[in-house]
Amino acid sequence: MDYFKRTRVARIIVDEQVALNQEIIILGWVRTIRVSKEVAFIEINDGSCIGNLQVVIGNPDNFPVLKDILTGAAVRAVGKLVESPAKGQKYELAVTELELVGAADQSYPLQKKRHTFEYLREIAHLRPRTNTFGAVNRTRSKIAFAIHKYFHDRGFYYIHTPIVTASDCEGAGDMFRVTNFDLNKAPEVNGKIDYHQDFFSAETFLTVSGQLEAEIYAQALGDVYTFGPTFRAENSNTSRHASEFWMIEPEMAFCNLDGDMEIAADFLKFLFKYALDECADDMAFFGKWVDKTICDTLEHVINSDFERLTYTEAVKILEKTNQKFEFPVGWGLDLQSEHERYLTEKVLKRPVIVYDYPKKIKAFYMRVNDDGKTVAAMDVLVPKIGEIIGGSQREERLDVLKAHMKEKGMDPGTLEWYLDLRRYGSTPHSGFGLGFDRTLMYITGMANIRDVTPLPRVPGWAKF
Ligand code: 4AD
Ligand code: MG
Repeated sequence: MDYFKRTRVARIIVDEQVALNQEIIILGWVRTIRVSKEVAFIEINDGSCIGNLQVVIGNPDNFPVLKDILTGAAVRAVGKLVESPAKGQKYELAVTELELVGAADQSYPLQKKRHTFEYLREIAHLRPRTNTFGAVNRTRSKIAFAIHKYFHDRGFYYIHTPIVTASDCEGAGDMFRVTNFDLNKAPEVNGKIDYHQDFFSAETFLTVSGQLEAEIYAQALGDVYTFGPTFRAENSNTSRHASEFWMIEPEMAFCNLDGDMEIAADFLKFLFKYALDECADDMAFFGKWVDKTICDTLEHVINSDFERLTYTEAVKILEKTNQKFEFPVGWGLDLQSEHERYLTEKVLKRPVIVYDYPKKIKAFYMRVNDDGKTVAAMDVLVPKIGEIIGGSQREERLDVLKAHMKEKGMDPGTLEWYLDLRRYGSTPHSGFGLGFDRTLMYITGMANIRDVTPLPRVPGWAKF
């Protein structure tokens, strides 16, 4: 194969780095093919960018292979890059050699017509070959890189926190169990499963968050972040929840809630700007086919200050409105997605950071405020999605943390190491979690988390 000799289509039509009249080799998949007596046109996409390269064959009779090339086939084309006389593209390839690498027959499901996203989820192994899913996944890759760049440029260190863990960071109890017991004959003591005999000699789960472990490293390296998969066994079949999703969790020593909110807003703006600047072609595609307002929306966020509201102020706004909600509103109740969206979409029309939530509805590790009723928590809410970031200042005072854990009915025994971080050189510190998949929904305008995740895992679905 000519892997090292081939030219990627993006080099030609995006970077414009390939000289005309040069002989080049293209390796890719056929999007469309039209053959007549005098001429044949093949649109080839090689995945490097949204655009296809049009391949032109002036003497089809000399290319008997044409009759075997159908939509979906993998091909190798050799020819000269020339300016295209036709409208719609700048360049085309005047072909001298054409080879069928891997055939596709009439049953190839992605014939030239629009398919619903629901249908494409059923064929998630083929959907990256569509314009939309190619664009989404290229953008996903570039934004992942941007995340590392943001933190690297600011002196943060990347920590790989464990995926298998014994602690339920969020305390919500929605964890997937990890075991190598034969479930039909798990050993028991006193009528209960004996996890001491399990693989890790303890009850273990897939992590819901790398935060607690990131805190260990923040208390040594200062500024750190994790970026990895997290798992939640909550049975929420919504367009914004996945059972496996990626999360970015920075953790900063010597940083309070105010600094946490500042970094969260700056980080989001950086990612949105990166998308507009570095994914321009794919962003233009989303603007045309997915959400006409998407580029303006991102631009608007980049240029606006994020509003800040205390939870108490937010509840007052929600109590005063005439808007009908499905879930009740009141001080002490958690904000539901409909409330979050109302605040950011209808009231403020831009991202908003809600902070100082009631202690009762938040996790044990959040710093208790002087009022004793609220904690230094913050959520960043954005239009159409609601919560995109959840974060807090962490409780650095050993006695307060112990009392808070007791109040929540937690057994401090399993988290002695976490308490040690407060015993030895404790610092005020803060961090947050940004849902990577939700960020991509926001950037691309795609309305369902199942369509921004390469191979989504949601309740009832773990195919591919
Ligand atoms: O608010 P969450 O649960 O916060 C934490 O896990 C903290 N430990 C983060 C920290 O302070 N280091 O989750 C953080 C973000 C949410 O704001 C949301 O964007 C995303 O993770 N998220 C989900 N994304 C997709 N599917 C789900 N089921 C999600 N649950 C949370
Ligand atoms: Mg949250």
